[in-house]
Amino acid sequence: MVVTKFDVLIIGGGIIGQSICYHLKQEGISIAIIDDFSRCRATHAAGGMLGAQNEFYSDSPLFQFSMEGQHMMKDFADELAHLGYVIDYQQHGLLKIASHGEHESLLQQYDFLNAQFKTTELVKNRLDEFAHGYIRNHDLAMWIPTDGQVNAVKYHQALMTLNEDVTFIHDRVIDVKANDGFNVRTSSQTYEAQQIVVAAGMYSGDILKSLGIHLEMHGVKGEVMTIHHHTLDMKETLFQTNGHYIVPKSDDLYVIGATTSMNGDNTVSEEGIDWLKEMTLDLLPELMNGEIVDSRCGFRPDNPLQRPVIDEVRDNLFVATGHYRNGILLSKITGALMHKLMFDKQHPLAMKYKDHFKLEDIHETILK
Ligand code: GLY
Repeated sequence: MVVTKFDVLIIGGGIIGQSICYHLKQEGISIAIIDDFSRCRATHAAGGMLGAQNEFYSDSPLFQFSMEGQHMMKDFADELAHLGYVIDYQQHGLLKIASHGEHESLLQQYDFLNAQFKTTELVKNRLDEFAHGYIRNHDLAMWIPTDGQVNAVKYHQALMTLNEDVTFIHDRVIDVKANDGFNVRTSSQTYEAQQIVVAAGMYSGDILKSLGIHLEMHGVKGEVMTIHHHTLDMKETLFQTNGHYIVPKSDDLYVIGATTSMNGDNTVSEEGIDWLKEMTLDLLPELMNGEIVDSRCGFRPDNPLQRPVIDEVRDNLFVATGHYRNGILLSKITGALMHKLMFDKQHPLAMKYKDHFKLEDIHETILK
């Protein structure tokens, strides 16, 4: 018999939906995840950086949330490793490099970070101390030794496998109706759930629209390529102020990212790859002696306030989306927070963040 009734139905099986599912399972409830697994997801094009400091220039609840989330990822990686899933957690630091003409923004970010993290160090005219002396054409950077990263694809796969005991529905949601709980209609079936979590990245706005809730979401395209270089043996992540980065992975692989565009085309463009090559050739020419083995793209889920929505927007209707560039970094803490918002609202984590990521702050308009 096909099960069509669940306590909780999670719409979206990317890293945020999977993490929420992993946390909710401890409640012993019936859960389903719906995802058609055919559209371009942000998780699979992610560099996997846990760059809490790297992405921010001023203090905010999101920055505090990111720092706490970064901290949680180490223990989470250990927890998954104990369960038999290695996600290649590494903490070899990140060198944030001023791109040509962008010294000012790097210095501004350093002033902010240095006021709170004494470990952040300004590096002037001695970039040859990093990347085995292979960095070229750049002279100013900031060293963030506590920065870490994971393999985003292995991480997503680990959670998918650990969540195999819940029901996976491979289908596309057409609409959701409130009806003593919720009815979720897909192309082939209607499912019932007491509680819904919309964690569908850039598609979340479309799903909420069918419930009369306005959340303007859009995807910001990012393209990455992977290079195999068998002798470079670089450990630290290099990240430029213009968004170009090189993230060393296991097996002598390097993920090079990332373009930023509003192009909605679901393919890797020649211009995108050319930009990644040009930036890499300028910063770390030796890496271009390796072989390009992969390229992919994804859409970062964004909204006008450029911050996540993690909220109960109506009774039993929850939303977790808008993680933009920080989905991997924020995945563990978002899963933990959503679990508390749903089942333990007085928990310190829920009390601390429940008012900071609300939907109503983004759009006051709830259509009647
Ligand atoms: N987190 C890096 C990016 O979105 O490109």
